[in-house]
This record gives sequence, C-alpha cells and structure tokens, in this order.
Amino acid sequence: MVKDKDAIENPNLKDKKMFIGIVWNCAPELKLVLSALLFFCSLVTLFQFFPSHLSFSVQDLRNCASLPPPSSALKLVTASSPPPVEIQIQHRHVKQEDVVLQNGVVKRNFNTYGTAAYNFILMSAYRGGVDTFAVIGLSSKPLHVFSKPTYLCQWLPHNATQNQNQNITVPGSKILPDWGYGRVYTVVVVNCTFPFPVGADGGGGQLLIHASTGGGGDSNFNLTDTIEALSETPGSLNPLQFSAPPKYDYLYCGSSLYGNLSPQRIREWIAYHVKMFGEKSHFVIHDAGGVHPEVMEVLRPWVEKGYVTVQDVREQERFDGYYHNQFLIVNDCLHRYRFTTKWMFFFDVDEFIFVPKKSTINTVMDSLSDYTQFTIEQRTMSNKLCYLDDHAGKIYRKWGIEKLVYRDTVKGIRRDRKYAVQPRNVFATGVHMSENTVGKTTHKTEGKIMYYHYHGTISERREPCRQLVNKTEMKVGGTPYMVDKTMREAAFAVKRFELRMIGSVLIRTRQ
Ligand SMILES: *[C@@H]1O[C@H](CO)[C@@H](O)[C@H](O)[C@H]1NC(C)=O
Ligand SMILES: *[C@@H]1O[C@H](CO)[C@@H](O)[C@H](O)[C@H]1NC(C)=O
Ligand SMILES: *[C@@H]1O[C@H](CO)[C@@H](O)[C@H](O)[C@H]1NC(C)=O
Ligand SMILES: *[C@@H]1O[C@H](CO)[C@@H](O)[C@H](O)[C@H]1NC(C)=O
Ligand SMILES: *[C@@H]1O[C@H](CO)[C@@H](O)[C@H](O)[C@H]1NC(C)=O
Repeated sequence: MVKDKDAIENPNLKDKKMFIGIVWNCAPELKLVLSALLFFCSLVTLFQFFPSHLSFSVQDLRNCASLPPPSSALKLVTASSPPPVEIQIQHRHVKQEDVVLQNGVVKRNFNTYGTAAYNFILMSAYRGGVDTFAVIGLSSKPLHVFSKPTYLCQWLPHNATQNQNQNITVPGSKILPDWGYGRVYTVVVVNCTFPFPVGADGGGGQLLIHASTGGGGDSNFNLTDTIEALSETPGSLNPLQFSAPPKYDYLYCGSSLYGNLSPQRIREWIAYHVKMFGEKSHFVIHDAGGVHPEVMEVLRPWVEKGYVTVQDVREQERFDGYYHNQFLIVNDCLHRYRFTTKWMFFFDVDEFIFVPKKSTINTVMDSLSDYTQFTIEQRTMSNKLCYLDDHAGKIYRKWGIEKLVYRDTVKGIRRDRKYAVQPRNVFATGVHMSENTVGKTTHKTEGKIMYYHYHGTISERREPCRQLVNKTEMKVGGTPYMVDKTMREAAFAVKRFELRMIGSVLIRTRQ
C-alpha cells in the first residue's frame, strides 16, 4: 500500500474531503474563503523564486504546487476546513508566465502537469531474517538510468515505548535485476538490512520505505514518498522459519503466463514435472492473462492435490515493463518462497527438465548441493516436425512430447540456459540466471541435467504437427535435425502417472 504524506499525517482526510464536497455545493459564500486559499497557494508558489534559505521546506512547495495541498498550510485559512478537491484542480491551472527581467532578458518558465511514471509501485515485501527485508517493486526506468533515486528503510515497532531504540533507519541497498530490459518501468529490489534484529520480540511493527527521487525528474525537488512496505501484527513473526528445514525440495517459479495457451501442452507439462519432482515439490504459476478457463481446468486437479498455486498477476499489465513484468514476478516468487524450499527452478512451460536414466532428480541435485546456483543446457526441439512411425490417423491423439521428436543438432551456438538456485543464498534473481548470490555458480552441468525446449508450441491452440516425417535425420531450412526419442519414451509413464494421481478428468483436453 502506497501512502502519501497526507494520508499518514491526516488519516481523516477522506472523511473531510467528503464533508467539504457537501459544503462546496451548499454554500456559495465559501467561495470567498476558497479564493483566499488559492491566493495563498499562489503566494507559496512565488516563494520558489526567492533564495532557498527561506523557511519553506521543499516538501511544502511541492505539495502546494501539486496534488494535494498540505494540511498544515491550509489550516491557516480554513481553520477547521480541510482541502477541497475543487481548489486543487483550479490551482493547477494557474500558470507561471514568462517574466521580463530588469536587464530586458525574458525569463522563461516551465509549467509542470501530472507525473508520467510512478516513483515506486510496491508489489511485495518479505522478511529474509530477523534483521533483513526485501521490498519488490517497479520504478520509473529513466529515473534509475539517468538519476540516483535512493531508498531509506525504517522500522517502526507497534509498541514504541517498549524499545525506543528500535525506531531506526538504514539506507536500503537497491538491486536492479532486469539487466536494463525494463521499459517505462524497471524492477527494483530494495534490500533493507538493519544492524540488529527488528521486531524479533514479536511485538509487531511496520517497515517503511522512504523512496526519494534525488532530483531526478525535477532537479528543484528531492521528492520523497513514504511507503508502508510491510506491517507485522504482534505475535505474527516466527523467527524459526528462517532456519527450519524447508517444506519442499523443489519449487518451480514460473514467469508471467499470457496469451491463448494450449491446455493440452500445459497438461503434459504439469503431469511430467509433478512426476519428475515428486511429492515434496510445488509449482507457482503466474497468470498474466494466460490462464484462461480451459488452462485452469487442467491445473485444477493439481491445485486440489496441493501441487500447484496459481497467482493472478494480471494487474501488472497496467505498468509497462519487460515481457509482462516477468523480472518482477520471479523476484516476488523468490522472496515469497525463499524459506519454503531447498531448490528453486526457473524455466518456462514449453520446457521440460530431464535427467539421464542412470540418475534421478534427487541424485543430480545432491551432486550439485555445494552450489548456490547452476544453469541448465537446452535441447532445442522442432516445433512442427512430427515423427510418423505408425498409422497417420493416430498421430493427433498423441501428446506433443511423443510426436515432436526432432532435435536441432546445430552445435556451438550459445543457447539460452535456465537455472536453479538454493534460494536462501540469493537476494534477487533474473530470468536466465541470478547475479545476486553468495556461494558458487556452475555452468558445467552438461550431460547431468538438461531441458527440452519446444519453442512456440505453448501459445498456439492447434495441432503442432505441420510435417510428418519418418527419417531419423533430416534438414529443414538449413537446420539439421535428428530423432531424439527421449521425451517420447518418458511419455507413457507420465500418462500412467497422471491417471493414477488425478484420474481421467483431463482425458478430453484439447489443444
Ligand atoms: C540483503 O543483503 C544482505 C547482504 O547481501 C543479505 O545477507 C540478506 O540476506 C539480504 N536480505 C534479503 C531479504 O534478501
Ligand atoms: C507495550 O509495552 C508496554 C511496556 O513494555 C506493555 O505494558 C504493553 O502491554 C505493551 N502494549 C502492547 C500492545 O503490546
Ligand atoms: C521514529 O524516529 C523518527 C525520526 O528518527 C521520529 O520522527 C519518529 O517520531 C519516531 N517514531 C516513534 C514512534 O518513535
Ligand atoms: C534526497 O532525500 C533523501 C532522504 O531525505 C536523502 O537520503 C538523499 O540524499 C537526498 N538526495 C539528494 C540528491 O539530495
Ligand atoms: C516411411 O518410410 C517408409 C519406408 O522407409 C516409406 O515406404 C514410407 O513412404 C514413409 N512414409 C512417409 C509418410 O514418409
């Protein structure tokens, strides 16, 4: 919840606004008072031309020059009456005209209207321990590229008298995890680490973030917005959660799902991965518009079994970021589930993790447990060449992973990798890997673990096969393909697993 200064100082503002609205309608005489007010505000605006050692604070000027005016200034004129909305609108139309100075020079003025991008959009805030927090949100990208906005973190205990020295402020350290990919908005993770535990006595409290523009946007003003990032009720903190063994071995953090996704492809993907990752696994699916009713239908049985959580993040679409704000979503997921899982996986729903037959996911992960992070190599599969080894009429009934068996064999291209982390050692994350970690990262996982990528199959609601072939090797458009039946061979067991776990409810699923 973003609170502006007035909301904090003046919790009754809403009621008062309603009251003055009524007065405005019923009492034309009041307009005199209001005009006086307007004059006062204009005066304050004029003060901007005087040297800055005048006793006006920047905050006051800013508030008078924009919405809404400060209650303290208005008190002088209105006595008991708070600021009416109507005045503010009129005031914004008072333009600063150009001025001819004594030496004949024309001093031009610039009138400001509105704000194009928010200073901060809070998505979430989580504890990372008794003394540390992560605050995840979006912020105006040019502000970060061309200026130096700063963040101050403040902890306010609910019971202030209990431990006065806990009312402390530390600089927040900001992480920009999206590699400059942002658009109007960029993703910001603010790490607030206090020098000692806060709220650890279970007394509850608030984490406030003071987000300052530092003169970006308008160098006259270092505007600060105070954000209530987190509020802890007394008794709600369980400090043991940060050291307790995690509930899950593997948790999947999906990035934003959007578009007209194929329910059948999702059905295959979720059954395959629940089977692979096993009982102590969980899948977090982020719906940015892609989880339409038919996709929800294939997820529902797994939701009911406790394997899947669907989060509706469609609201993020209001804020123009990179690919439906996927960097925002994965960072939220990282911090939200950081202490509930040993490993966290980041890959897409058109990608299938695979470990060679001699191993299991558990043995592979155990062999990598010294690493905070490892990346996973890709096996690129054709998204249209289908293998025809039996009756052509039957092929449409096969699963995508059974019939799409042609693997691109081009070597030496550095392809996209996906990755997994031990999240307790990670402070922010990306889509292809995380750069904010402690501990080791390895890319040497070839032959140990890989993923099959069926690019473009997920977002098309049609039969994926365009060309039926029965050769073991072939070239299409210069790209050599060879048959790789790995996934096809796994499919039978996955189908049986699905039937055993959730019955035949999904048997009629369509592309
Ligand atoms: C914040 O950063 C510190 C130091 O890098 C780290 O120890 C801490 O776990 C981080 N906190 C969160 C919530 O990520
Ligand atoms: C606040 O602290 C005082 C003194 O320690 C205590 O008596 C009181 O019960 C506390 N109030 C709450 C709401 O915890
Ligand atoms: C916390 O500290 C700030 C400044 O450091 C002060 O303005 C505020 O009144 C304090 N709040 C409480 C509850 O003690
Ligand atoms: C803006 O204000 C914040 C909070 O008061 C402060 O930490 C920061 O240094 C200021 N920045 C500039 C450029 O004055
Ligand atoms: C498949 O292969 C057989 C023998 O190699 C051949 O006779 C047949 O025409 C092929 N079918 C297609 C659809 O290519």
